[in-house]
Amino acid sequence: MTKLTIDGIEVEVPAGSALIQACEAAGREIPRFCYHEKLSIAGNCRMCLVEVEKAPKPVASCGYPVAEGMVVHTDTPMVRNGRRGVMEFLLVNHPLDCPVCDQGGQCDLQDLSMGYGGDSSRFRETKRAAKDKYFGPIVKTVMTRCIHCTRCVRFASEIAGVPELGATSRGEDMEIGTYVEHALSSELSGNLVDICPVGALLSKPYSYAMRPWDLKSTPSIDVLDAVGSNIRVDARGAEVMRILPLANDDINESWLADKSRHSNDGLKRRRLDQPWVRRGGRLVRATWDDAFDAMATRLRGLSGDRIGAVVGNLCDAESMVALRDLMERLGSHNVDCRQDGADYSTAHRAHYVFGTGIANLEQADAILLVGTNPRAEAPLINARIRKRYVAGGPAGLKVAAIGPRAELTYPVKWLGDGPEALADLGAFADLLRAAKRPVIIVGQSALTQPGVLAACWKIAQDHGMMTPEWHGFNVLHAAAGRVAALDLGLVPSGEAKGFDAMMGGGVDFLWLLGADEFDTRRIGADTFVVYQGHHGDAGAARADVILPGAAYTEKNGTYVSTEGRVQHGELAVFPPGECREDWRIVRAFSGVIGLTLPYDDLDAVRARLAEVNPVFNEAGARPSFTGDIPAPEANGAISGGAFEPWFATYYQTDPISRASATMAACIVEIGPRLGAPLTSQPLQIAAE
Ligand code: SF4
Ligand code: SF4
Ligand code: FES
Repeated sequence: MTKLTIDGIEVEVPAGSALIQACEAAGREIPRFCYHEKLSIAGNCRMCLVEVEKAPKPVASCGYPVAEGMVVHTDTPMVRNGRRGVMEFLLVNHPLDCPVCDQGGQCDLQDLSMGYGGDSSRFRETKRAAKDKYFGPIVKTVMTRCIHCTRCVRFASEIAGVPELGATSRGEDMEIGTYVEHALSSELSGNLVDICPVGALLSKPYSYAMRPWDLKSTPSIDVLDAVGSNIRVDARGAEVMRILPLANDDINESWLADKSRHSNDGLKRRRLDQPWVRRGGRLVRATWDDAFDAMATRLRGLSGDRIGAVVGNLCDAESMVALRDLMERLGSHNVDCRQDGADYSTAHRAHYVFGTGIANLEQADAILLVGTNPRAEAPLINARIRKRYVAGGPAGLKVAAIGPRAELTYPVKWLGDGPEALADLGAFADLLRAAKRPVIIVGQSALTQPGVLAACWKIAQDHGMMTPEWHGFNVLHAAAGRVAALDLGLVPSGEAKGFDAMMGGGVDFLWLLGADEFDTRRIGADTFVVYQGHHGDAGAARADVILPGAAYTEKNGTYVSTEGRVQHGELAVFPPGECREDWRIVRAFSGVIGLTLPYDDLDAVRARLAEVNPVFNEAGARPSFTGDIPAPEANGAISGGAFEPWFATYYQTDPISRASATMAACIVEIGPRLGAPLTSQPLQIAAE
């Protein structure tokens, strides 16, 4: 630790810290453009000047290391003058078109020139102009506003792992671009807009939509993958205008994946906004009473084993527990969450969650990926793996994978295509055994095959991944509702019918709660289907009754991330038309058929959740596992073929992203590049 004095305040910071970090520790605000705590230091804007005693001139605090006994002043005439001069130079070529600039009201340059700039300029020369560049469907550019801080260049090469941005020419002619014009091939490109301190990089879909002071912000949880990213939903009236990340260093840091950020236009397209009932083979508009009557009539006389329910990938825990309770009252235990055929062990929570924790991946030194493409299934978990790889260090990260080959943004040793490769990991087995913090990550594609879960657990045990200090076994989920469903026991066992048994006429009454990710032609021709959800997608097309539910931005919902972290999303806008919160729909129908569920408000449903599984009491916390955990039971011998990619495309994986025009544009303009051949060098293992 290093001790120094800042504006008379003594602070202690880790040795090697930048002076700007020490100033922050002392509670001093230092203006900056190029410095960003998640990126390497460039030191090229000079805005962060401070005065260090015995130094002949002001120093740029972001690029200046702390030293023992240093005495620093952050607000002296010398500092103020220096910053004013930097500001004057920065504005020499800046167009100052704030009234027509989308960044207005949320612009670092605007704010800092108000706070630290002068009131006039000595420059009368013509301002330079730069041609706008094409960066794809997510990022719009107005390059004349660029102040050459290079944050975007560093983000692309360090965090996103796509070194496609760079600067050409020098001095006044310097321009940021992709050299050869093309869409950025990153699933994290939306973050460029957040880190650009000026209005040079802007959100293309949000272009000229709204000023920040017109928006109402609500903190919430993303559901378009299972990472549980913390988000801020910005709405105007009933419309979600944009979605931004909320910083949470344990989960998403300051980032958000493009699908989570830019699918918001899908929230207003293809919406189900009133009940529908099938009459004479055609779906016709109906009232809630009509819809409930049709369901009650069909249920009359049915025994519990002829009734079933499937819960979908975006479901909140409240609606799932309500449906589970209703099904039990109807005498049925046929409720399943596995539309995709993945098989789980629910004997212990460590068998089905990402037990290492996302942040702890930064300590891992060897990772084995089995049947997963984390870049497509959980981009921010992939970004953590890349962060660990970039950090390197004495025990640099080594990654091997089994499954379909893909460019993951770090070197990977490919060990095979399917489960047979689990039997012999070759030289990588020694590397895992020698590692201090080895990790295995098992994807959904792997879990659809018999014997794989147990085999992966055994690899974890045999290679020192589960010790009293370290837990390295992880299941990577892709569906936001899946872990909550498993916590609630929505995996039938014994006599109860699972998803496959309910298909092909296995039940006469099938309730699909937002379940769209399967071929609905598998449902028996005579099965009466109730679809409850928010989009007119696959499930609604096959339904006999449609109950319009609320999307995740329109309800207070509980979600459990792949880490097993319980989090609450909040209502940001009211649902459209006659849509209702999903648990309330189930509760209302239970009253119609005389099986009234015993909860009338959100607190009571959440109390019920905690009664079914106490983990729902521990919002925000991540479970940690240590020591001896019983192994999952093997569900057969390994016999399957190659693991399949889990998604056909990263950009469309659920009813919301399928309804999004921005995501459709991404498929056309970026999709082919995301799926491009491997560009990282394969990992070389010395023993080979
Ligand atoms: Fe104004 Fe900022 Fe836009 Fe420049 S980037 S025109 S300072 S709002
Ligand atoms: Fe900085 Fe924005 Fe210019 Fe990139 S485009 S160098 S982030 S000002
Ligand atoms: Fe220090 Fe830019 S923030 S030089």
